Amino acid sequence: MATTHENVPIKTAPSAEAPSRRSFLARLAGILAATGAALAAWPMFRSLVPNVLYEPPKRFRIGLPDNYQEGATFLEKHRLFLFRSGASFHAISGICTHLGCTVKFAPFGSPREETVRGYTFRALGEFHCPCHGSKFRGEGTNFAGPAPRPLTSFLLELSPETGELVVDVAAEVSRDFRLVV
Ligand code: FES
Repeated sequence: MATTHENVPIKTAPSAEAPSRRSFLARLAGILAATGAALAAWPMFRSLVPNVLYEPPKRFRIGLPDNYQEGATFLEKHRLFLFRSGASFHAISGICTHLGCTVKFAPFGSPREETVRGYTFRALGEFHCPCHGSKFRGEGTNFAGPAPRPLTSFLLELSPETGELVVDVAAEVSRDFRLVV
């Protein structure tokens, strides 16, 4: 209650801007109720969303054979090497079998004939892993460092619809596999 200079008491109207204690409590109760309802509904909502892990496809097209030059081409997106020798193609994984780093292809000055584990082939170079020093022969066999096994060779096919090369990284093939187009 305020007073005038003449000490006459004057009633002051309550401020319209200051929220009353009651409306504040009502709003708080509303927020708490909405939060509780949302938390209660969450398991039901979550059950409607399938628990699926989305992975990249295991089988994919990588373009026409003629798009590839002789020798090795690294497909960064798929982390694999595509090799071409004339009409013959094969694909080797670029993922190190130690801890999964991407290996690099180190080409020789000129191709050389090599025999590894009884298999003779025309080697264009070898693979080196920059992480812990593993090395792999040109057909994928590990020969230095901690890598426990060879690089994987993948199935290559030709799409009957488009004529493009198709890699199937779910299908491992032997290191002497070649697709001739
Ligand atoms: S990840 Fe390749 S040597 Fe360790």
